[in-house]
Amino acid sequence: MKTIEDLGELRGKRVLVRSDFNVPLDGTTITDDGRIRAALPTLQQLLAEGAKVVVTAHLGRPKGSPDPKYSLAPVAERLGELLDTKVTLAKDTVGEDARSVVGGLVDGEVALLENVRFDGRETSKDDAERGAFADELAALADAFVSDGFGVVHRKQASVYDVAQRLPHAAGQLVFKEIDSLRRATEDPERPYVVVLGGSKVSDKLGVIANLLGKADRLLIGGGMVFTFLAAQGHGVGRSLLEEDQLETVRGYLAEAEEKGVEIVLPTDIVVAPEFKADSPATTVAADAIPDDQMGLDIGPESQQAFAAKIADARTIVWNGPMGVFEFEAFSAGTRAVAQAMSDADGFTIVGGGDSAAAVRTLGFDETTFSHISTGGGASLEFLEGKTLPGIAVLED
Ligand code: 3PG
Repeated sequence: MKTIEDLGELRGKRVLVRSDFNVPLDGTTITDDGRIRAALPTLQQLLAEGAKVVVTAHLGRPKGSPDPKYSLAPVAERLGELLDTKVTLAKDTVGEDARSVVGGLVDGEVALLENVRFDGRETSKDDAERGAFADELAALADAFVSDGFGVVHRKQASVYDVAQRLPHAAGQLVFKEIDSLRRATEDPERPYVVVLGGSKVSDKLGVIANLLGKADRLLIGGGMVFTFLAAQGHGVGRSLLEEDQLETVRGYLAEAEEKGVEIVLPTDIVVAPEFKADSPATTVAADAIPDDQMGLDIGPESQQAFAAKIADARTIVWNGPMGVFEFEAFSAGTRAVAQAMSDADGFTIVGGGDSAAAVRTLGFDETTFSHISTGGGASLEFLEGKTLPGIAVLED
């Protein structure tokens, strides 16, 4: 994969950067700016080299036409604060305003194009349609830097097709993400432990299937654990349960045993009658969840057991919270895993999305983890062993 250095002299050149600024918003307030901060090193490097930097990004899933709710305006403002420079937001993606804003850039200045998904061609399944949009994006620049790791699993115009039309390179974030994930997956130092959580087992099937041949231990928590407990024949009360996945999960349990992969499930669960912050919480044995209760976190005994399984590992990857960490009463399991990872001597990767947000909102020092991924779906697909189109295209 080429790096920015391979693009040669950039002074005065227009460089199109694809970033992932798909940040959580409360109205127009950004509640976690981690993805914007992660984009800074590449942008700072390009600005310092005197490039005219044109950033393209998406926010949410608008329906292929402009929708003020998904405007990148709050991102432009936050990016300007973090870069300590003016960031001009073009009113459109590749239209008249984008062309005029880009045309007005001087060396070492940055502009942000409006939400790239305001143009339906960005996400089109039709190669020609996407290609036509990529042509218009490419016309705004002399080179392309792919730095939106969170979106490299998408075959979309600003991620994939534009790289085929311009001299291209991986930005610092994409480079660092791939480097870390490869280190964890391609010849991991052992014991190699993967902690999986999150609500749905169906979102993690590919990862589990791939890891059964690779990891030494799989620690399972979050909403998905109840399908595992049910597959073992336990009642799970009103907890999340994916009945249609029971057979698959039974297959995984059998395969793990055959391959000598240790699957660690919680032995106690924090339950409550309702999915509410103030619903009265109690701890019960994992094989004795009352019919009228739902599991919302792993219990204290399991927290200790999970922490011990993490402590002596040399490589640890974590994806998905252990419970409903947004509610204080059900956050201890996620906190315990984050703490154990933060204390561990091994190489630790927090895989994007909710677990990365949990680490930050629970107040952990980010520097105590080897790598916190900015990619939710992208890091999962990487762990599944899939080819990511936005990475493959950079290898050419
Ligand atoms: C993400 O939030 O995981 C990325 O920004 C990709 O967004 P998408 O799932 O809407 O393509």
